[in-house]
Amino acid sequence: MSENIFSSVDNFLTEQFAPEDAALKAVLQSLDDHQIVHMSISPVQGKFLQLMVQLMHAKNILELGTLGGYSTIWMARALPVDGFLLTIESDPKHAQVAEENIARAGLTEKVEVRVGKALDVLPALAEEKAAPFDFIFIDADKPPYKEYFDWAVKLSRPGTCIIVDNVVRGGKILDANSDDPAVRGVLRLLESLRDRDDVSVTVLQQVGVKEHDGMLMAVVK
Ligand code: SAH
Ligand code: DHB
Ligand code: MG
Repeated sequence: MSENIFSSVDNFLTEQFAPEDAALKAVLQSLDDHQIVHMSISPVQGKFLQLMVQLMHAKNILELGTLGGYSTIWMARALPVDGFLLTIESDPKHAQVAEENIARAGLTEKVEVRVGKALDVLPALAEEKAAPFDFIFIDADKPPYKEYFDWAVKLSRPGTCIIVDNVVRGGKILDANSDDPAVRGVLRLLESLRDRDDVSVTVLQQVGVKEHDGMLMAVVK
């Protein structure tokens, strides 16, 4: 029942504050067409990321986990004309579908989809001098979340904002002995943050059309 009210309120707020245009709707349709499981962020979450990018005056964005490019499009739309977003996706099929969606959204010039496992691509980015990024969204597979966060900080500058999706997982993170690899990945990240004093962190707990979850937000000192 509570799920129902959360979804209903989310849909109500989405209609007013985060309506999807044709390009965003087409992303979700493309996932159906290619039988790709829906794991995109929600519309109000997309709008939240977009506002964060805008607030940060971000020109250089890094994303881990592209899927169909839904979150990519929300963020890239807040970039200035000379802004750039690099998104890393390990599944070539997802990457190809995302490319089509990004083209349909008219964002090809501002977005690069890099195909590869994030842990292989991230060290290459350091070499390429693609860094520092102003804004980093981590939303790939959950077990290496700690390593992803470590790399995000390495590729950052003071003031960079790092957002990490899915860190609450319906409250499953309260089970310290969980054998769910995603929960363990999140807990390993949270644990590692106890020892870090180079980032200032909070978590936004979220309900809505997706399961009860949350986004971690960090600002690099
Ligand atoms: N950010 C997207 C959703 C991403 S879903 C959105 O909100 O629209 C997670 C994606 O991460 C999937 O497409 C999956 O293929 C990809 N992924 C999984 N393991 C990965 C890895 N090791 N490196 C990069 N991407 C990975
Ligand atoms: C899953 C992954 C996500 O990034 C998400 O937002 C929701 C679900 C998943 O792997 O099930
Ligand atoms: Mg996610």
